[in-house]
Amino acid sequence: MLFLQLVLLVFFLPGGDSEDDFQEPISFQIILISSFYNHSWMQSQGSAWLDELQTHAWNNKTGAFIFLQRWPKGKFCNKELMEVDELFLSYYTGFPLKFHDHGSQWQLEYPFQVQLIIGCELHFGEASVGFMRIAYQGSELVSFWNMTWWPSPTGGSRAQQVCRLLNQDHEDNELMHMFIIDYCPLYLSSLLDAGKADLQRKVRPEA
Ligand SMILES: *[C@@H]1O[C@H](CO)[C@@H](O)[C@H](O)[C@H]1NC(C)=O
Ligand SMILES: *[C@@H]1O[C@H](CO)[C@@H](O)[C@H](O)[C@H]1NC(C)=O
Ligand SMILES: *[C@@H]1O[C@H](CO)[C@@H](O)[C@H](O)[C@H]1NC(C)=O
Repeated sequence: MLFLQLVLLVFFLPGGDSEDDFQEPISFQIILISSFYNHSWMQSQGSAWLDELQTHAWNNKTGAFIFLQRWPKGKFCNKELMEVDELFLSYYTGFPLKFHDHGSQWQLEYPFQVQLIIGCELHFGEASVGFMRIAYQGSELVSFWNMTWWPSPTGGSRAQQVCRLLNQDHEDNELMHMFIIDYCPLYLSSLLDAGKADLQRKVRPEA
């Protein structure tokens, strides 16, 4: 945690009016949008974002994430961060399949779109917050916390059915919990650390 605070300190301190900056959380999030046109035709697009800045594009042919920034990448080469890549890969292929396979049971009507958002938020001096949500046709369907998927109050019986299925996989839930609570903040802080100089130029072009 001390390391993290140092990173944030280095990131925000130079400049006069940093009081407000300290209160601003920083997020890292991965977004997958799957569009289902009919039973046999589906497209997925993925991306990853550090706040408003896109850091990764997703190659939907190979399933690989491509880092878009010109920062040194040495910091990302540890074991945990490689596991993150594998986790992304299994989620990105697994999620759309679940919706494809349960189309009639969940009364999904073609064409439809499913969005998956996974990420975490760093709050200066506080514990980070992890989140994961799935939306159907732009409305929140289910969300994840405390290692369990929960139906959105407006999601009806479809949301309950989706939760029931997703919650059957305890191992996946544990992995995702670990990802959003442990790995994601680590990844976010290493991104900030590696990109510090570049980000400061972006935030304060005159400095
Ligand atoms: C599915 O949609 C695509 C694109 O609109 C179309 O080319 C294809 O023929 C459709 N397939 C079926 C089985 O309807
Ligand atoms: C991949 O994404 C592109 C748009 O970025 C889209 O045109 C293409 O159909 C997608 N392919 C698959 C297999 O989803
Ligand atoms: C999280 O889940 C555990 C086990 O199901 C439960 O004991 C605990 O009270 C939950 N925590 C919160 C904040 O709901």
